[in-house]
Amino acid sequence: MSIVNEFKEMRYTEALESDSAASEWLEKNKRKFGHFINGKFTKPANTFKTTNPANGKFLADISKGTFADVKLAVTSAVAAQKRWSSLNSHERAKYLYALARVIQKNSRLLAVLETLENGKSIRETRDIDIPLVVRHFYHHAGWAEILHEEFKDYEPVGVAGQIIPWNFPLLMLSWKIAPALAAGNSVILKPAETTSLTALYFAKLCEIIGLPKGVVNIVTGDGETGEYLVSQDKVGKIAFTGSTEVGKRIRKKTAGKGKKLTLELGGKSPFIIFDDADIDSAVEGLVDAIWLNQGEVCCAGSRLLVQESISEKVKKKIIARMKKLRVGNPLDKSVDMGAIINHSQLEKINQMVSESEKEGAKVFQTEIKCDAKGCFYPPTLITDTEPAMEIVREEVFGPVLVFLTFRTPKEAVEIANNTQYGLAASIWTENINLALDLAPKIKAGVVWINSSNIFDAAVGFGGYRESGYGREGGKEGMFEYLKPKPHNSLIKADKPKEFRKVKSSGTVTNISIDQTRKFYIGGNQTRPDGGYSRKLFDKKGNFVTEIGLGNRKDIRDAVESAIKSTAWSTTTSHNRSQVMYYLAENLSKRKTEFCEKLELFMDKKDSEKEVNLAIQRLFYYAAWTDKFDGTIHQAPIRANTLAINEPLGVIGAISSERMPFLSFITILGLALSQGNRLIMIPSETNPLACLDFYQVIETSDVPGGVINIITGKPGELGKVISEHSGVDAIWHFGSKKHFSDVESLSISNLKQTFVSDGEGVDWTVTHNPFLKELLRRSVQVKNIWIPYGE
Ligand code: NAI
Repeated sequence: MSIVNEFKEMRYTEALESDSAASEWLEKNKRKFGHFINGKFTKPANTFKTTNPANGKFLADISKGTFADVKLAVTSAVAAQKRWSSLNSHERAKYLYALARVIQKNSRLLAVLETLENGKSIRETRDIDIPLVVRHFYHHAGWAEILHEEFKDYEPVGVAGQIIPWNFPLLMLSWKIAPALAAGNSVILKPAETTSLTALYFAKLCEIIGLPKGVVNIVTGDGETGEYLVSQDKVGKIAFTGSTEVGKRIRKKTAGKGKKLTLELGGKSPFIIFDDADIDSAVEGLVDAIWLNQGEVCCAGSRLLVQESISEKVKKKIIARMKKLRVGNPLDKSVDMGAIINHSQLEKINQMVSESEKEGAKVFQTEIKCDAKGCFYPPTLITDTEPAMEIVREEVFGPVLVFLTFRTPKEAVEIANNTQYGLAASIWTENINLALDLAPKIKAGVVWINSSNIFDAAVGFGGYRESGYGREGGKEGMFEYLKPKPHNSLIKADKPKEFRKVKSSGTVTNISIDQTRKFYIGGNQTRPDGGYSRKLFDKKGNFVTEIGLGNRKDIRDAVESAIKSTAWSTTTSHNRSQVMYYLAENLSKRKTEFCEKLELFMDKKDSEKEVNLAIQRLFYYAAWTDKFDGTIHQAPIRANTLAINEPLGVIGAISSERMPFLSFITILGLALSQGNRLIMIPSETNPLACLDFYQVIETSDVPGGVINIITGKPGELGKVISEHSGVDAIWHFGSKKHFSDVESLSISNLKQTFVSDGEGVDWTVTHNPFLKELLRRSVQVKNIWIPYGE
């Protein structure tokens, strides 16, 4: 009889995973850990405690990395990198393969250890985190093997400094370490202070497989240790995942230092359900979107957008499903949601939810019965919200879902994009036309169609806007750990030519009627807002014309018109190429005139060469408009991704003093070809041909606002552009002395930066790798997950 009752009630009983093997390992190490530097563990020192968030119990003492520890790790990584990169591809691939195998063999212990320290459920660490870690190493063993074929024009960056958060400790480690090693770099990884244990266990696995010493170094510690790592000159690349606030700080600290940087930051990702969606599937998807990992997921679908006609129905289903979610001891195999990482995160979640209630939102939470010493928080649904509420705008990083409605697809896109973030989005509809119509319109690096929170090593992951830049995973992720080989690089080895200084005096004889060259903004010739100009003298010291000095207002006007001219980014690539060929054709017709303009400031031979190459360059990038394709990534699940190259948006570009016209046209051509709009600052010493290029633009069907040209002081104008939150990227090919300002000011909206000493660039190079690398910098990859196959 009692069995019948049990059966009727179908209550769960505890199904605990044993933690004995993990505890044994901790005990064996006396629950005290040093760093892993140059292939061995250092003596524990300067320690802090790590605890189990599910019950508050002590786990181990972890060492806080000092400046000296970080320095030591850098020395070891620098030495190791030389040996590591000199191994042949196959040798490196074997090590990565061995890492995958050894992680697989230790997978259960790693899953338990991760659950103990992070508080996430064993169901997730066992079935999601660790299998994805293994997959990452296998996949990148493959990239290591074929590196020399697929990236023959590239070489490793050198030493990579990697800083990771606590939400997916071992998974984030694998996302960082696997591609870095595959590309021939050595690494220093700093785990989050709350979750160091699986990284330290990974270090032990590196020892076991005999990974050459110093190739992987693990230095534990907090933000201060992270700052030491960021400040190291010999670290060629920083890869960071974590909060947007710290990401911006790191951008500022590395500004002007010439380091590669990838930032994978926060999000407030929309989860959109249309009225024709399979609602039950969508609700299940929602569980994965917001209650996976207690909602502590950068790409969590935390903003639910439901079409109005089905909103009540969907709400009911969500509430019914929420009531079935089991929250509790994360080592219990039948628990869905474990503990929040620590008390301060719990407090943050609590505070944001209470605040929303005070502002008039309604909060629904399920009842949970958990260990009072643990950091548990119930699944939460927030309705009756306003767009301006903090809970709607800001990342909670907890199991909190915000409920919003929309009427039309257009409105759904508007709400989805009404955020400073752009990490991911999920679209639910049975109508493929609708899904694929929306996918390009949503500003996010990842779009899941009828799915959510799925990841794979073969697929790039990363954000738009303030969710950061750079990609992890896929071929696009490999580029982040490589740089062009010197012979393909932007910087040419030979000494740059001497440039003429800006002349402030000379002979004023040939006065024309209109002495001042105008700017070109929004398709119109405009006068400098400030009314200031300077005299331009030719190489003989004769007066040529007045050149306007642009100011903040001019830049603002240019940005506004560039923002509006979105049609250039969405028109077909064929149309774009037609316009670009037309530009080339019209420039060709006026070749003599442009040569003469340049010749006023430089040799006749050089000016002819520049104009000829400029015409060719326009042809070259016109050719690429419909050939710089994305790709299709194959994930080992019922989905593929379209990895599409999308324009960056509005680019502010400071052109080079060297080869002033050719550099100007190169930048213009490459940016336009990929659908970007531009605010261009021509050379300060030789701006005439660039400025007069608007006459060619005007006759070539370029829509107004797509190209804007403003002259002035590149340093000052570069700063203004960097600060402007309407600009998506800044390219600076001017003087090195401005790089630091430009990059640190770019944090206003985390615009992508590309700085390169244009004076050292040989802009005449016509071979493919150089020009193609530039193309890669003019796009961002969006991965659209599409259900595919059986
Ligand atoms: P955090 O951004 O402070 O920490 C992430 C990593 O950066 C950790 O390893 C930390 O030690 C390190 N770090 C901190 N300050 C640093 C500095 N100045 N220089 C170099 N490294 C530094 O994140 P935290 O404090 O753990 O969480 C705060 C909030 O950040 C969360 O509430 C959540 O909203 C967000 N967050 C977002 C993550 C994401 O994946 N997008 C991951 C973790 C947190």
